[in-house]
Formats: sequence, structure tokens, C-alpha cells
Amino acid sequence: MAIQRTFTMLKPGALQRRIVGEILGRIERKGLKIIAMKLMQIPRDLAETHYAEHREKPFFGELTGYITSAPVIAMVLEGEEAISRVRLLCGATKVDQAQPGTIRGDYATQTQLNIIHASDAPESAEREIGLFFGDEEIIAYEDGNAEWF
Ligand code: PPS
Repeated sequence: MAIQRTFTMLKPGALQRRIVGEILGRIERKGLKIIAMKLMQIPRDLAETHYAEHREKPFFGELTGYITSAPVIAMVLEGEEAISRVRLLCGATKVDQAQPGTIRGDYATQTQLNIIHASDAPESAEREIGLFFGDEEIIAYEDGNAEWF
């Protein structure tokens, strides 16, 4: 098992519905460490770069429009196998496939408003972290007491 970093973003609906704390609680209870975090209104060009692989998809305009419609909370999370573990916490992208007990399974009502984004592979994690955070915004620190985990 390897310690990894992953990019995670709580989408506008998480803030508008006041469920940020509930989602962060799930992430922290799983032992993931927040090493960078900011509330931000994503500029259109950053949204288009972030989702560039979907540029040709019919929903590209809706996807970038939604993500720029209100603030998001962007984060870098660190932990063992963080990329796959955060994806598991999130659940499936499509609302009808997201299992109860996952973040999307419990909170997402429409695929296009699916509450949370998380990197799907080491390459995308590195790219997305670099898009949203400068090195000086990422703060590594020791865990206080290993027995907590
Ligand atoms: S695909 O088509 O399988 O490549 O798409 P997918 O990987 O499932 O989703 C990529 C991101 O697009 C969002 N998405 C949508 N947005 C708006 N409308 C529709 N119909 C739609 N379908 C998928 C989906 O939430 C993914 O965004 P993130 O932020 O990664 O969850």
C-alpha cells in the first residue's frame, strides 16, 4: 500500500445544501488527511481545463456551467491508497448507480449535480492538484497520535 495524494472538490450543491460538514466528516472518519483546502469560485477557463477530457461530450457546457455557478471547496487529501479510497467514499458517478452509504448515493439527486469530484488515477490526481494548488498551499504535517487510527 502506498501513501497517495488526491484532488477532491465539493461542488456548489454541497455548499448550497449546507452538507459540507457531513461530507468532510465522512472523509476524516476514513482517516484521510486534509493537506490543502480552499473555498473558491472557479473561473470558466479553469473549469474547462479541469474537465478538458470531456470537451466533446454533450454535457460539457452543463458540467462547466454548474461548477462555475457558485463556490466550491477544493482540497488535497493524503492517505494510504487515497485515490481509490476517496472514489469509494464518493460512490458511482451516475446517480442511479451510486450505492446507499456513499456520498453520492446518499446525497446526489441528479448525475449533473453529483455533489463531489475526486481524481480517478494517479496521473489525474497530479494534474488536478497542480491546476488548483501551488506547492506553497499544500501543507504536510505529522499525525498527532497514531492510536487514533
Ligand atoms: S463519461 O461520459 O463516462 O466519460 O462521463 P463520466 O466519467 O461518467 O463523467 C465525467 C464528468 O461529467 C459529469 N457528468 C455529467 N454532467 C452533466 N450532465 C451529465 N449528463 C453528466 N454525465 C456525467 C460527471 O459528474 C463527471 O464529473 P465529476 O466531477 O468527475 O463527477
